[in-house]
Amino acid sequence: MCGIVGAVARRNIVPVLVEGLRRLEYRGYDSCGLAVVTSDGPRRVRSVVRVAELDDQVSEVRFEGVTGIAHTRWATHGAATINNAHPIFSSGSLAIVHNGIIENYQALRETLREQHYEFVSQTDTEVIAHLIHSLYKGDLFAAVREAVRQLTGAYAIGVVHQDHPHTLVGARAGSPLVVGYGNDENFIAWDALAIAGSAEHISYLEEGDICEIALKGVRLVDFRGDKVVRNPRRVQAYGGAVELGPYRHYMQKEIFEQPRAISHTIPATDTFRPRLFGEMASDVFRGIDSVLILACGTSYYAGLTAKYWLESVAKIRTEVEIASEYRYRESVPNPRALVVTVSQSGETADTLAALKHAQSQGMTHTLAVCNVATSAMVRLTELKFLTHARMEIGVASTKAFTTQLVALFVLAVTLGKVRGHVNDAQEAEYIHQLRHLPAALNAVLALEPQIIAWSDDFVRKEDALFLGRGLHYPIALEGALKLKEISYIHAEAYSAGELKHGPLALVTEAMPVVTIAPNDALLDKLKSNMQEVRARGGHIYVFADSDTHIKSDDGIHVIRMPEHYGLLSPIPHVVPLQLLAYHTACGRGTDVDKPRNLAKSVTVE
Ligand code: F6R
Repeated sequence: MCGIVGAVARRNIVPVLVEGLRRLEYRGYDSCGLAVVTSDGPRRVRSVVRVAELDDQVSEVRFEGVTGIAHTRWATHGAATINNAHPIFSSGSLAIVHNGIIENYQALRETLREQHYEFVSQTDTEVIAHLIHSLYKGDLFAAVREAVRQLTGAYAIGVVHQDHPHTLVGARAGSPLVVGYGNDENFIAWDALAIAGSAEHISYLEEGDICEIALKGVRLVDFRGDKVVRNPRRVQAYGGAVELGPYRHYMQKEIFEQPRAISHTIPATDTFRPRLFGEMASDVFRGIDSVLILACGTSYYAGLTAKYWLESVAKIRTEVEIASEYRYRESVPNPRALVVTVSQSGETADTLAALKHAQSQGMTHTLAVCNVATSAMVRLTELKFLTHARMEIGVASTKAFTTQLVALFVLAVTLGKVRGHVNDAQEAEYIHQLRHLPAALNAVLALEPQIIAWSDDFVRKEDALFLGRGLHYPIALEGALKLKEISYIHAEAYSAGELKHGPLALVTEAMPVVTIAPNDALLDKLKSNMQEVRARGGHIYVFADSDTHIKSDDGIHVIRMPEHYGLLSPIPHVVPLQLLAYHTACGRGTDVDKPRNLAKSVTVE
């Protein structure tokens, strides 16, 4: 998704802006650009290749400046072309970078056309540029304030003007923006990461805030125009580019980091007290009568898995909703529900909007399960539980997912205790099983060579089915999502019992059917479902627990999982599916860490 960096300094700031863009690259983008202010108007360089290519252009033309804005763009309005890449200009005097989507851009465009503004891009951003220009009467800050009042939608913007060689104006609503304070130089950015090392402190802007960045300081006002101070905090040093080590891709590295990430996420206590979720958790957990989980994509599948745990371990009614559906649905609010948002980034626009929607309906008990301590989501909820996956760079989520599962299992056990359904001995057994997970995952990761052999079959396929039952149905969904997003093979997942209600019609010799076969109460039913597939000529690829007695046969390929993992079985069982997707994608030569059309954190609707 789009990224922003901007600065006002005394030195040539272009290298800092380029470095900032480089650090935001992992978020996914399809074009990038940078502008500096000169007395003849802003100058810009743009690229539809990569930030490295933008950097080459900068060196070639000796592109320098003390005030500038830079951007990585993930196309929403208009294709990924040079013309649509930011910074976008108005009338040769003003330049803007923008994250988010302006919903009323069509109407504004018409009005501005009538004022003889000429549009040279297909972006909604150009509307903001011309709007600010049309309102500008010598005071850039005032023009931006006036303009944002007319915008509907989400935005974080940075604006510069040729009349103000040492000023940059920023604003945010529905899209994150931070202000960075350096030594005689100040910044804006999508995230502290982009300016760490140059800025010593940062503040997170709040909804509707507008800032004016100058050499000597920063002016900040809220949506009413009242002066505000937004709690500055120290910026953690930038850790440098994350090394790949012996791995080919970040996704592979992150799959192999899961044992460590999980062991860091499991609380290092002998008993799970509500305080693990925040000071108020004890009171909150005693007062709730249900759980509502809101999330998107892979995080939604973590929520679906957690429903089984919350209902069986904590005996608490649980609903799981896709955030982008919930936010627009007329639902019946329950003030006694605990609203749990699950998110790697904590910045996903739909999940944030769903959370705010729930809060606006009087559902005040909220908990974020999140991987980013400084994210908007963590700041918005009453309770929090941080996963300790560390930064995830591969667009396809892997270690964030398994650590979310751990966090949600800890929640189920904790709520089970509070509600009297988990006694001390059961808790000790659950904690024991959790602590065994890293070793269990290491044993599963050792299956990689067998999975690579299977991936040779998948490389040539264009479709695949994934089957699971019960707790492993969401894992089948996640396996199918992983395969489609990075290998571009069309994959669908079904609860195995649903096969005969429709999808069985798809099964032919050409259709690989990946089956998750843990040794649980549904095993015999699953074996019957496998026979239904085999009888139609489908080829079955089974990940079977060692004690299931499922054997390789004609058209049945089996990889044995090292042991049976009980209630936590979804966690080890998702790992071979991640590896299968990864090696199939490598075989097909796709851009594994940056799959086409996708971005790491989806900050637009
Ligand atoms: C898929 C994937 C996405 C994210 C989804 C939500 O591999 O990563 O489906 O899970 O975009 O993102 P977060 O968890 O950041 O809210």
